[in-house]
Amino acid sequence: MTYRFSSLIEGLKPSEIRELLKYTSVPGMISFGGGMPNPKSFAIDEIRDIIDHVLKTNGDLALQYGSTSGMLGLRQEIAKMVKDTEGIDTKPENIIVTSGSQQALYALPKVLANPGETVITEAPTYIGAISAFNANSVKMLGIPLDEHGMKTDVLQSELERLKKSGSLPKYIYTIPTFQNPAGYTMTLERRKHLLDLSEDYGVPVVEDNPYGQLRFSGKKVPSLASMDQSGEVTYLGTFSKVMTPGLRIGFIISNEKVVSKVNLLKQALDLATNSLSGYIALEYLRRDVMAKQIPKIIELYRGKRDLMISSLKEHFPEGSTWSNPDGGMFLWTEVDPSIDTTALIKKALEKKVAYVSGAAFFPHGEKRNNMRLNFTYSDDEEIREGISRLGEVVSQELQSVRVA
Ligand SMILES: Cc1ncc(COP(=O)(O)O)c(C=O)c1O
Repeated sequence: MTYRFSSLIEGLKPSEIRELLKYTSVPGMISFGGGMPNPKSFAIDEIRDIIDHVLKTNGDLALQYGSTSGMLGLRQEIAKMVKDTEGIDTKPENIIVTSGSQQALYALPKVLANPGETVITEAPTYIGAISAFNANSVKMLGIPLDEHGMKTDVLQSELERLKKSGSLPKYIYTIPTFQNPAGYTMTLERRKHLLDLSEDYGVPVVEDNPYGQLRFSGKKVPSLASMDQSGEVTYLGTFSKVMTPGLRIGFIISNEKVVSKVNLLKQALDLATNSLSGYIALEYLRRDVMAKQIPKIIELYRGKRDLMISSLKEHFPEGSTWSNPDGGMFLWTEVDPSIDTTALIKKALEKKVAYVSGAAFFPHGEKRNNMRLNFTYSDDEEIREGISRLGEVVSQELQSVRVA
C-alpha cells in the first residue's frame, strides 16, 4: 500500500543529533554529539533501592494509571525544590509533570500558537525546540546572542517591527542559563530588560532551564520565573540532567490559564503521566539524594570542562575560539569562517570523532562555522584523544581550503 503521509510529516527532517547517535555505537567512535549526562552521574545503587521500596510500599499505585498532571506528592516536592534552588514561588496546582521537558516544548506551541504564527527564539537555540516548533508548523524568529545572553536590544527592535506589522510573536522562548548550545548565561540586566519587553509588548516568556543547577563556577543569576511579577513567565524544568533522563520526568510551571490548556492537550498526548517514574522521582527527592548527588556531578563536569578547554588550546588551529561556560554541558566552538562544519562531519566520522554542527542550532541554518561539543559524556582519555583527532581534522581542512 502507498501511504500518502501528511504534508507536515513529509516536511520534517530528522535531527542531526538523532542521526549522529547511530554512529556512537561504532567501535572506537568518540562522540561529543549528544547532550548525554555521564553515566557516573547516576545514583544507581540508591535508585535500585528506591525502586524496590516503591514497589513494596506503593506498587499498586505506581503500576496503575495516574493523573494527567502528575501525582500531587511529586508536584509538592517540585514546588519545594524550585523554591530552594531557583527562588520560584509556586503551588502544586501550577505544575504539570511532563515526559521530559521535550514534551513541554512540543505542547506549548500547540497551546499558544497557530500554524504559521511566530515564536521568538535565541539564535542559536536548542535543536529539540526547533524540532518541536517545526512539528507544530510554527515559525521561528531567531535573536542573536553573545556571551551575555540574548541581545535584548535586537529583541526590542524586532518586537517593535512586528508590532507595526500587526503580527506580534506568540511567545519568547529562551534558555537563559548555560544556554544550549552556546553555554552562555544571560546577565541580570538583560533578564530585567527581557521581562520589561515582555510586559510592554504583551508577549509571554517561556524559560527553559535544564542546566541551572549544574553551576561549576561564577555567581548564580536569578531565574526569570523568580523575577517575574506578572505571572506571565512559563518555566520548564527537568530531572534529566540532574537525576536521570531515563525516567523522562520534566515539568511545566505556569499560571492557571496556561496550565489548564496544557492539561487539556496532555489528555490527548499521553492520558496520564508515568506513575512509576513519578514515584521513583518523588522518593529520590524525599530522600534528598538530589542534594547529595548534584555536588558530585558538578565536580565531575567541572574537571571535564577544564580538560576539554585545555585540549582545544593544545590541538585546535590558531584563530579558533570556544565558550568557557560556568555550567551546563556544552562548549560552543567557532572555527575559521572558510570551514563549513556541517560538511566537515563526514571527515570527522572517518577519524572516529563526532560533534554536532552549529548550523543545526540555527532556526534557519544561517551560521556554518560552529561546532557544539558535549564535554560531560566522554571519559577523560576520550576527551583528550577526541579533541586531538578533531583538531587534526579542522587543521587539515583549513590547509586544504587555503591551498584551494
Ligand atoms: C535546552 C533543553 N531543553 C529541553 C531538553 C529536553 O530534555 P528532557 O526532555 O530530557 O527533559 C534539553 C535536552 O537536552 C535541553 O538541552
